[in-house]
Amino acid sequence: MQRVFSGIQPSGIPTLGNYLGAIRNWVPMMDDHECIYCVVDLHAITQPFDHKELARATREMAAALIACGVDPDRCTLFVQSHVHAHARLAWIFNCVARIGWLNRMTQFKDKAGKDRENAGSGLYVYPNLMAADIHAYHATRVPVGEDQKQHLELANDIAQKFNHDFGVEFFPNIEPMIQGVAARVMSLRDGTKKMSKSDPSDQSRINLTDDADAIALKIRRAKTDPEPLPSELAGLEGRPEARNLVGILAAVTDATPADVLRDHAGKGFGAFKEVLTEALVAHLSPIQAEMTRLLADPAAVDAALRKGADRASAIAEPIVTKAEEIVGFLPRR
Ligand code: TYM
Repeated sequence: MQRVFSGIQPSGIPTLGNYLGAIRNWVPMMDDHECIYCVVDLHAITQPFDHKELARATREMAAALIACGVDPDRCTLFVQSHVHAHARLAWIFNCVARIGWLNRMTQFKDKAGKDRENAGSGLYVYPNLMAADIHAYHATRVPVGEDQKQHLELANDIAQKFNHDFGVEFFPNIEPMIQGVAARVMSLRDGTKKMSKSDPSDQSRINLTDDADAIALKIRRAKTDPEPLPSELAGLEGRPEARNLVGILAAVTDATPADVLRDHAGKGFGAFKEVLTEALVAHLSPIQAEMTRLLADPAAVDAALRKGADRASAIAEPIVTKAEEIVGFLPRR
């Protein structure tokens, strides 16, 4: 059975983009893979964050994952900082990865913005920690949204350089799994920008916890164009906002964008948005109810995470200890 690893930052409430692009794909993988899913709090502190809120946000993210169908009894679900192997391997990877490679990372450029000199150095080496997350488990498959593709290519470059430098075949190649019509869900305000937890405008995203009224309002206000829906996919060319809404409806109704256009061709966006709102509310309300139920007993969520951390450590500890031995550190005996 292939081993899967994926992670999500507890840097806010998960968005519809996180859900459709990643979390939803994690669930069926539990049927035929050994799955390891991680709330990556070490990554979350690479950008401004509220230290008084981080622990709560981490637990809430875990509850959101469980509510979406990530079953802690059928996978290993844990918090990154609870398993020290990640930080240890990340340090080794900081020394393996070349500065030139990190300089090419588009996400660093986006997140650091114009004032790059003032960005935290953790943000710069973020992809090395991400590579360590995966390679600490010898995982070979990584389900993510489109925006993580470049980081996963770097994770493969790091593994190859490590293997080459030390003359071993230790870290396997990983296969990014970027799936479905919603691998890149766009902002509701600008169809050329991805939907993001950290966008300053809450109107740009649907949060998994938004109630029916909030969803209706955000969809009603979502940017569109004045043309009716086309009957063919080609008619969405150059219409990023229209394409995004069609993609979202397809994803939440398990249809294809072509199916959506067949059913709604000729409709204006007023009517289409009502259909979309209804589908989103129907899809998200059971998840929200489950999340509320789980968070009523935070100790139970914490206990599930503790069990997950024990299982994760049991896998990662010997792999990272072996990596340290390969590097030549004197073993602690
Ligand atoms: P994060 O928390 O930003 O996002 C979590 C997952 O959601 C996907 N995603 C999207 N998919 C489609 N449309 C969107 N608008 C959208 N926004 C986010 C992301 O691609 C991601 O799969 N670096 C990772 C976390 C991470 C990780 C790892 C992932 C840390 N270590 C190891 C895989 C393997 C991240 O930024 O997640």
